[in-house]
This record gives sequence, structure tokens and C-alpha cells, in this order.
Amino acid sequence: MNCPQDWPEPIVRVQSLSENGVVPDRYIKPPTERPSSDHPTDANIPIIDFQPLLSSDNGDDGLRAATLAKISEACREWGFFQIVNHGVSPELLDQTQKVWREFFHLPMEMKQAYANSPKTYEGYGSRLGVEKGAILDWSDYYFLHFLPFCLKDYNKWPSIPDGREVIDEYGREVVKLCGRLMKALSLNIGLEEDFLQNKFGGQDIGACLRVNFYPKCPQPDLTLGLSSHSDPGGMTLLLCDEHVAGLQVRKDNSWITVKPAPHAFIVNIGDQIQVLSNAMYKSVEHRVLVNPAKERLSLAFFYNPKSDIPIEPVKELVTEDRPALYPPKTFDEYRLYIRMRGPKGKSQVDSIKCPRG
Ligand code: OGA
Ligand code: NI
Repeated sequence: MNCPQDWPEPIVRVQSLSENGVVPDRYIKPPTERPSSDHPTDANIPIIDFQPLLSSDNGDDGLRAATLAKISEACREWGFFQIVNHGVSPELLDQTQKVWREFFHLPMEMKQAYANSPKTYEGYGSRLGVEKGAILDWSDYYFLHFLPFCLKDYNKWPSIPDGREVIDEYGREVVKLCGRLMKALSLNIGLEEDFLQNKFGGQDIGACLRVNFYPKCPQPDLTLGLSSHSDPGGMTLLLCDEHVAGLQVRKDNSWITVKPAPHAFIVNIGDQIQVLSNAMYKSVEHRVLVNPAKERLSLAFFYNPKSDIPIEPVKELVTEDRPALYPPKTFDEYRLYIRMRGPKGKSQVDSIKCPRG
């Protein structure tokens, strides 16, 4: 199965609809999926100071252990957490967001030069999935690759003054941080620190960025910026606007609105780590609400296994009492689902579960 070369119908940029007084029918969600009048709560995903895990020597072992324990609890209880003091400079985070804001504020004809297709999704896009007539989400995005190196193509990156250097530097720094997080997760699962990284393919991992742009929306109660989904890849590091909330995470049966800490990364477990960990860690559903008064920008950095190696529950976590829950599947094969059908909750990872006797 391959993704088609082209979209099933003409692409409409959500940004171009934003000033109309109403949301077109194509974006109106069925009542059960609309942002409900869920009681607002004060709950927030855990915020963890990552500093103790930045250096492997001359650190305080007690603090390191306490930080690992916080990450472990957050992975089990939430599948989501924020990290602060993560070692990526606040200036670089600000500059990167600025570059992307500039891109989305270029005249439409300039952005159209980067229009994407469902074949690779690279470039400027306005939908996920290729089902004709599907109800769409209220967002535009830009998608590009950092790794593997053979997929990195500056011709497919936007041309913004200083943009390439800033985006490149952001990619290098976030890859480094993801490597540190992978070590923490491996240790927390009870494995050698390089274990998960090796399962992902060592240095041959995949790293890509989707920059989401959520324009203002005249009727935010009728639609979603991004429908409920779990991330298909390994792990996601999200940088978002600290002044405009929007991301909601499923906790038990309600939706918790994330309050981003300044210069924090929001980290979440993706489906591939759910599979490798034999569901010890779960990828958690999340979605995005839109705002009537403010646009919102977010950078979702996806850290993925090498795309052609089979991913399956690690032997160390498979026991007689807890048999392997998932069959092996490459990430290439796995991600076709969302690329064809768009965001659909946790239907994919649930559907590949091995039948149990
Ligand atoms: C994503 C995602 C959340 C956000 O891009 O997969 O969940 O806040 N983004 O934009
Ligand atoms: Ni996501």
C-alpha cells in the first residue's frame, strides 16, 4: 500500500477562512467530538526539572534518581509531561518560533510554493489523511525531515532569512535532548541506558518536525484544531505558545488542558514506545482546541525508530503472564494508517493488538 500522489480534492488553507464569520461545514465535528463543556479543572501534566540529567558525571546521584522517578511516574500516569531546564537555550526556542511565525505570515502565494502532497507530506499542508469528504481540522502545518540524513532536503524547507540555520540548530539540539530522554526511559523500564536507542536503530533514527498553525476561529465550539489522536512515532517533543492554551490530554475520561510552562518542552510517549514497552508505557490521546481571538503556533518534533526495522515488544518485558501484545511492524508500514485516514484516536495501536486466548 502506498499513499496517493495527490489530495482527493482541492486544498483550502484554513488561514484563508479565518476571517469569515462562520466555520464551513467541512470543519464542523459531530456533536460527540466537539469541545464539550467539560468542567474546567486545575489539573496540569507534571512539570519536571531536567537539569540533574544533563550531565552524566559530577552530578548528584540522589537528584538524578529522584528525577528519573518523576519521569517514570509521569510516563505511567499521564504519558505526558513538561520538562524545564532541558539544556536547549531559551533564545534558540524563541528564534525558532519567530522564524515559523514569519513563514505563516508570508503572503499566500509564497507559501503555496511549498504546497505538499500525501506522498511524503513534506512542505506546507492543510490536511492529514486522504479520505474524500472527510471532516477536516482547523489548522495548517509545515512538515520537514532532519534525519535520516538522506531525507533531509533544504529545497523542501522554507526560505526565510536565517531560517535554515535556526531550524537546523533546533533540530540538532532537540535530537540531543531526545537521546537523553531515551536513556532515562530505558533505565526506568529496567534496561541498559542505550537499550531503546538501539531498538530504534542506533544513530539511524528518524527525526522530523511538524509546525502546526492554528488560525483564529470564529466558532471554536464547533471544530477542533487537531482531532484526537495518539502520535504514531516514538516520542514527541512539543514546543508551544506559552500564552495561548489549546492542547488537551486525555486523563481517564476527561480532557485536561495543558498549561505550558515558559520555555518548556511537552514530552509525550508515542505508539512505538507503547509497542516496545509491551504497553508498560502508553501513548496517550490528545487533541487541540482553537481560539476565537488568538492564533496559535506549535512545533511538534517527532523522534522515531529507523523506518524499516520491525518494532515489537522487547523480549525482556515479555513473560508468560504478560505475553507480547503486538506483532512486529515497521514504522514505515505503521504510519501509513494515519497518513491515509488522518487522526483517529487510538484506533490504530488498539487494532493491531494480538488476539488473546
Ligand atoms: C501533534 C500534536 C499538539 C499541539 O502535532 O501531533 O499533537 O498542541 N500537536 O499542536
Ligand atoms: Ni500529537
